[in-house]
Amino acid sequence: MQIRLMTHDDVPLGLRLSAQAGWNQTEADWRRFLWLAPDGCLVAEWAAEAVGTAAAFAFGTLGWIAMVLVDEAFRHRGIATRLVERALQHLHAQGVQTARLDATAFGRPVYERLGFLAEYRLLRMHGTAGAPSADPPFAALSADRLRAVCDLDAEVTGTRRGRLIQRLYAERPESATAVFDDAAAAGYAFSRPGRRAAHLGPAAAVATAAGVALLDRMLARCPAGPVLADIPVDNPAAVEWAEAHGFAVQREYTRMYRGRRIADCPQRIWASSGPEKG
Ligand SMILES: CC(C)(COP(=O)(O)OP(=O)(O)OC[C@H]1O[C@@H](n2cnc3c(N)ncnc32)[C@H](O)[C@@H]1OP(=O)(O)O)[C@@H](O)C(=O)NCCC(=O)NCCS
Repeated sequence: MQIRLMTHDDVPLGLRLSAQAGWNQTEADWRRFLWLAPDGCLVAEWAAEAVGTAAAFAFGTLGWIAMVLVDEAFRHRGIATRLVERALQHLHAQGVQTARLDATAFGRPVYERLGFLAEYRLLRMHGTAGAPSADPPFAALSADRLRAVCDLDAEVTGTRRGRLIQRLYAERPESATAVFDDAAAAGYAFSRPGRRAAHLGPAAAVATAAGVALLDRMLARCPAGPVLADIPVDNPAAVEWAEAHGFAVQREYTRMYRGRRIADCPQRIWASSGPEKG
């Protein structure tokens, strides 16, 4: 088995594996991963056939491992374990002290064996948007206030991932909204299209009223059809919002870490940006 860097030519492989696993990523998502971490996106080859992927994103001293996917026909040969080991080596070489990830039930035993510990649970909630509505009104985030949104995101997630937030905004400025308390952001919400469903997130708010208002706005903006949101169990107000809007739990993820535990605020996360980005 060999591990090599992923390139844009491997995007069809990534899409095939994420679709095989029933995941929601689009081509734009895979290209964003390559843009964020050209040296951290990996492909595993078995007898010269590309059969697995993993991605490692370094944000300062915190790293995120994602997109760990192995073709169904090639599982239980140690491929994911080798991919994650290589991803960890890459992150350590970048000065990362804490690696985090969101584990599926399939992935959790692989990560536990590599020393990852559970932090908290996230619910993958599935709902349906009605026809887009102008009620409540959608106030799109203006570019000059993006820095304040990145500051709040860093405070809530414990991660300086302004590059990711800026890129999400640049791709779809019309799908970002925020509320402010003078110059400081009091909450923000993004959404993006997915392969199977619109994906709410990242979204965070310092108070319940702001979180509810932002997700109400964002849901009214989504195209009619299926919608997903990944919500920490530690934010019961967000779970309540989702249930009140007809969302149901589809599955669960376990947020895990290896290294120094970081302080984040899951009770202020209204929708995680997805298991691939925290
Ligand atoms: C999770 C996933 C990536 C694991 O891939 P994998 O390559 O099968 O993982 P590994 O082979 O490293 O480990 C899986 C199991 O095979 C076992 N194994 C490893 N090498 C082996 C070998 N040579 N012979 C037999 N078993 C082996 C491991 O001990 C492990 O056992 P366990 O699950 O009972 O603990 C894969 O199932 C997958 O793509 N699932 C769908 C997407 C997903 O959930 N990804 C994880 C995101 S967090």
